Parts: sequence; structure tokens; C-alpha cells
Amino acid sequence: MKIRIESSFEKRKQADALILPYREEKNGPVALHTQMENDPVLSSLVEGGFEGEISEIESTYGVKGKEKRVVCLGLGREEAFSCSVLRKAFASVTDFCKKKKIESVNIVLPENSEEEELIAVVDALCMANYSFDEAKKETLKDHPTVLLKEITLIGGKSSWQKKIDEYRLLMESVNLSRLLVNRNADQTKAEDLAEEAKKIAARFPAVSCRVLSKKEIEKEGMGLLLAVNRGALVDPALIVLEYTGDPKSKKKTAFVGKGITFDTGGLNLKPTGGIETMRIDMAGAATVLGILQACASLGIKKNVLGVIAAAENAIGPDSYKPGDIYVSHAGKTVEITNTDAEGRLVLADALSYVQKEYAPEEIIDFATLTGGIVVAIGEEASGLFCNDDGMVDRLEKASEKTGERVWRMPLYPEYGKMLKSSIADMKNSASGRKASPCTGAAFLERFIHKNTRWAHLDIAGTAYLSESLPYYPSFATGVGVKLALAFLEDEI
Ligand code: BES
Ligand code: ZN
Ligand code: ZN
Repeated sequence: MKIRIESSFEKRKQADALILPYREEKNGPVALHTQMENDPVLSSLVEGGFEGEISEIESTYGVKGKEKRVVCLGLGREEAFSCSVLRKAFASVTDFCKKKKIESVNIVLPENSEEEELIAVVDALCMANYSFDEAKKETLKDHPTVLLKEITLIGGKSSWQKKIDEYRLLMESVNLSRLLVNRNADQTKAEDLAEEAKKIAARFPAVSCRVLSKKEIEKEGMGLLLAVNRGALVDPALIVLEYTGDPKSKKKTAFVGKGITFDTGGLNLKPTGGIETMRIDMAGAATVLGILQACASLGIKKNVLGVIAAAENAIGPDSYKPGDIYVSHAGKTVEITNTDAEGRLVLADALSYVQKEYAPEEIIDFATLTGGIVVAIGEEASGLFCNDDGMVDRLEKASEKTGERVWRMPLYPEYGKMLKSSIADMKNSASGRKASPCTGAAFLERFIHKNTRWAHLDIAGTAYLSESLPYYPSFATGVGVKLALAFLEDEI
């Protein structure tokens, strides 16, 4: 898809549709543009019931201009106007274009738009302009997916073009993450995730990749990662990507991803209704790959590590068993009280490994860790657990900027106590279902060193939506990539 800025309405090229923004007011919609105000067809459309509510769309033919179709887009009331309103409204534009098979649009930006608003518009157009089609054959023959190919934004400053081009690059990484999550579980096995990581390292000289094989994982003593993978036919992997964007500095930020390529629940088998989407349990890993690719393609001036603990939580004669005790990479022993609480196990080993080998100042882990976070806050936000208030501020700022919501959850010491084991140093799952996202986070916290700033994002509700929305078309959302990049870019 191409996105260009055009400062003059008159100089715009031919396109399938022209998009004109309107504000909602008591006495009827008010144009947020000065173009074609006196066109009779357009004014009759506006008079004929269009109110200008957020995302309201009315379209007509027969207006004189360079486009076959003119679309009026509602942006709602002035007092409620914000970047998230723009995102919602412009995602509906892309959705409308998909349905009407429109490939090129001229969009008149609301008058006096700021750069931040332009980015919200571009974000919405891009996020919605996606469709996972790899697994469709006949459907595609009968109903080919039509996505937007050319967008001209009229009224913007030409200096904004650079930002737009950067955004396009960022979206490539969001879409990489979406693609990996959407694919079959067996297309994204540990070795496939490792291949993706190697591809990124091969493309960008500032990125290096190291994959620990099963043998090396054994040598490192990552007993928890090995335990989770025991029932699987394929080997686990510990994948490390290292991006050097600031060679003069020793500071590093690490992103760690849960890479469970399929989560059956293990011998504590998941029931029907809970198991069908479990190919998405490597969404944290997909986010980390997206983040590292985005850092490299945008040339972010930071040192960034990406670490993925990849395993399959399968059932087989050799599966790890409830009641068994395993020794972690950190040396602490863990009693397995529930084989379905496997994410925290593989993450614990990855977290302790990255701290020992690379000593990053700060770590953010992404994990589809608990169903409980979906019960608590739904699909509207990722659960944020963090041991550092400054980091929370930065993550909340990044969240505000990108629209990827985070909601802080508590890390009270009581949650840690709920993991007390009478036979080992701790158990992996507290008894009962109380506060499961919090006890999950408390388990991870046990593996964080005293001086490491750490945030855990439980993305079980946000990585994959049960119903598609214009802004988030079906399946994976790619959540976390934009958040992480905004987080990195913000730091002084
Ligand atoms: N992968 C699941 C969590 C999950 C649930 C992700 C729904 C996406 C959507 C995780 O491994 C899991 O099964 N967690 C258990 C933890 C429990 C046993 C303490 C859960 O949430 O029930
Ligand atoms: Zn599980
Ligand atoms: Zn899981």
C-alpha cells in the first residue's frame, strides 16, 4: 500500500473514492473541509439523514470530481474529539472500502490537523487494511479480498511524509506478528520461530541471532523449559536476538516472549471451548520478533534484546506430570501443580537466562499467560504488572500514544505466598482460581533480580480477538509491537 501527502485538493489524482470528514452538531453535520461545499448531490446526501456520528458513513455517486464515489465520514462531536476517535472512524473507512472493493482513495484531512492526528489516521487505515488469507482457497476465488492500494492524504504538510513512511515500516512488523500468530500451530514450531529470527538477523547487520538447541538448553540447566516440552515430538528452543542501535552504550532493554506453539494444557488437558485457539499461545514470541524487526528497520538508537522461550505443551507418554518437581535455570525448584500453567515455567528460565547472560537494565515480557486476565479486564487492555513506577509511567504514555491499552494490576507479596509449596521452593499454580493473573505474575517475579526493572504484560485478552472489529480485522492483533516501539522511542 502507498500513502502520500498532497497539499492541494485541486492537484489530487483520480481515485475510486473521495473521503470527506464531518463533525456532528445539534443543527446537523458540519463539514471539516471547504471542498465541494456547494455541490448539490453532496448537500442532499448530508441533508438526507447523515448526522456525522463517529464512524457514520454515507456515500453517493454523481458528484463532480476526480472520484467515482464520494464518502461522508462522521467524526462525532467536537468535545469528544480525540486521536482514538480518529482511529475508530478511519478504521471504518478501510472496512467500508474492503466491502465495496475500493482500491484507491483521496482523503481530505480534517482542517488544521496536527501531526499526531495524522498518525492516528494512518494507523487506523493501516491496521484495518489486513486480511489473513493464507488458508483460504475457494473463498478467495469467489470473493477475492480487496485491500486499499493507494491512499492520498489531502491537506497535510509534505514534511509529514517521512513519519508516514516510518509508520509503514512499523506496520510491516505488526503484520509479521499477526501472520505468525494466525498460522497453524505446526507452521510455527520452535524451529520455525528460530528461522524467523534468523531471517531478521540476515536482513539487518545490526541484528545477531543465537538459537540454543535442546542440548544447549540441557547444558544451561533450563529444567522448566525442558519439562514443558517433554510431551512434544519436536525440540524446544531458546532464541536470542540482539539489536545494537547504540554501540557506545552498554544499556540494554530486553523483551521476552512466551512461545508456546500449542498449549493443550498438558495432562491437565484443556476442555473443548478452551483449546481451539491455543495456537496463539506463542503471541508473546511473535510480538518480540515484530519488535526486533521494527527496531532494526527503523534504526532505533537503542540496544534491544529479544528472547523467546519456544516449546510445545503437548500430551504424550513422556509429558511432564502434575506432582513432579523440576529444577529451574535459576536453581529454584518448582512443584508442578498444574501442567496448564506452563507459560510461567518457560518464561522463568528465559528471564533468568537473559539476566545472567546479558544483565539488561529493564525487561518487558509479553505472554498470553492467563485466562483470568480476560475474565478481569476482557479484550480491552493488556494486564500490566511492574516493579518500577517510572517504567509504568513510560508504558502508560506509550499506551496513550498508540491506543494499545495497558491496565496496571497489583503485585502484592500475598500473591507470592499463595505459591508456597510444602515439598519444593514453590509451586507453579496456586490452588483455586483466585487472582490467577496476579499469582502468575508473582511466579515470574521470583525470577527477577533485585536491580532489574521489569514489566510483565499479560496479553491473553488482547493478542487475539474473539470477534473482528474494523480496526482489528479477524484473528491476531499484533499487540505490543507498537507499544514497545513507542516505549523505546520515548526514553531520553
Ligand atoms: N495459554 C493459557 C492462557 C490463555 C487463556 C491464553 C486464554 C489465551 C486465552 C495458559 O497457559 C493457561 O492455561 N493458564 C491457566 C493458568 C492456570 C492453570 C493457573 C489459566 O489461565 O487457566
Ligand atoms: Zn496453559
Ligand atoms: Zn499457555
